[in-house]
Amino acid sequence: MTLDKINKDWTKLGEKDPLWAVLVDPSKRNGGWDPDEFLATGQREVDVALARLDQFGGTPVTRETALDFGCGAGRLSQALAKHYEKVIGIDISAPMLATARRLDRTGGRCVFVHNTRPELATIPDASVDLVFTSLVLQHVPPDLAETYLREFGRVIRPGGALVALMPAATRATIKGLVFRYAPHQVVALLQKRVLGYPAPMRMTTIPTDQMRAILAGAGLVVLGAAEETGYGDHWHFIRYYAVRPGIPTQETAGETRPFREQSAQATQATQATPKQVAPQQPTLDREEVARKDLGRVVPRPAESAGSGPEPPVAAGPEDAKPGNAG
Ligand SMILES: C[S@@+](CC[C@H](N)C(=O)[O-])C[C@H]1O[C@@H](n2cnc3c(N)ncnc32)[C@H](O)[C@@H]1O
Repeated sequence: MTLDKINKDWTKLGEKDPLWAVLVDPSKRNGGWDPDEFLATGQREVDVALARLDQFGGTPVTRETALDFGCGAGRLSQALAKHYEKVIGIDISAPMLATARRLDRTGGRCVFVHNTRPELATIPDASVDLVFTSLVLQHVPPDLAETYLREFGRVIRPGGALVALMPAATRATIKGLVFRYAPHQVVALLQKRVLGYPAPMRMTTIPTDQMRAILAGAGLVVLGAAEETGYGDHWHFIRYYAVRPGIPTQETAGETRPFREQSAQATQATQATPKQVAPQQPTLDREEVARKDLGRVVPRPAESAGSGPEPPVAAGPEDAKPGNAG
C-alpha cells in the first residue's frame, strides 16, 4: 500500500464522515457524533496517557511544543493543548485537517499541517517536547510505521517523550482472525461492500519486541508498554512510553517557564531536577538503568503484549466503543 493510496482513502473518509472515521462506532455514522462528546473522549485519553507517562518518569523537561501525529479532526490535539503551550497536528488527509480547524477551540494554539510524505520535513531536529500518536500507525504498512517512528526520534528534543499506540496482534475473535488471515484486498472489499465504508481502513500490527527494537533504533528509551482495553475487542493495543535521553541544551530547550494550565502532577515533574538518562539502550535491564537515571521509581515495563500494568483509570474512548476499522 503506497502513501498515495493511504492519502486517497483518508481523504475520502475525511470528506464523507470525519468523526466517525476517527472513532468507528456504528451508532455514530453519517455525522452522528456530537462534537463535544467526541472531543471529551480525546481529553480523557490524553489526560490518562500523560498521567501514565508521568508515573513512568517520562514527563518532558519542558512543555512548549507537542506534535500530534495523524491528528485527524484534532480530537487529541485540543486535549494536548491543555498540557502544552503549542500543538502541531499533522495529518495526510486535507478534509480531516479542515474539520480539525473548524472544531478548534484553543484560540490558535493548535496548528494543523498537511503532510503526505514519509518524512516530517517541516519539523526541525530536536524541536518538540512530546510526540503523541494514537490510532494512526496501525493504518500504515509496518515499514512506513518504522520510518515515522524514526522521524519521531529525530524531532523529539533530549529530555522529551513519545507516547505511541500500536496494536501488537489481533485477538482470536472472528473479526480479529479475518484481519489476521485474509489478504488486505479481501478485508478492503468487505469493508466497502458489506460494511459500507466510504474507503477501506487497513489495519496492521507490530509485535511488542519489534516495536521495542524500532524505538531503540530511533534513539528512544522505552520506559513502559501497557495494554489498552478501550479500543474494541479484536486487537491487543499497546501504548508505548519512551523518552529521548539527555538534558536539553540551550539550543534544544523550549521555553522553560511552567505552562499555565499544567496539572499538579506535571508541575511536580517540571520542577524536578532534570536527570540525565543513560544512553539509549535496547535491553530491559538497561532500560531499568535508564529509568533509575530519570530519578523516578517506576514499574518495570511489560515484558510482552498483554502483561502491562493497568492504567490508573480506564484509558481510551471506551464509551464510544470505537472498533476503529472492522
Ligand atoms: C483513526 S484516525 C485517528 C485520528 C486521531 N489520532 C485521533 O485519535 O483522534 C487516523 C488518522 O490518521 C491519519 N493518517 C493515516 N495515515 C497517515 C499518514 N501516513 N500520515 C499522517 N496521517 C495519517 C488519517 O488521515 C486519520 O486522520
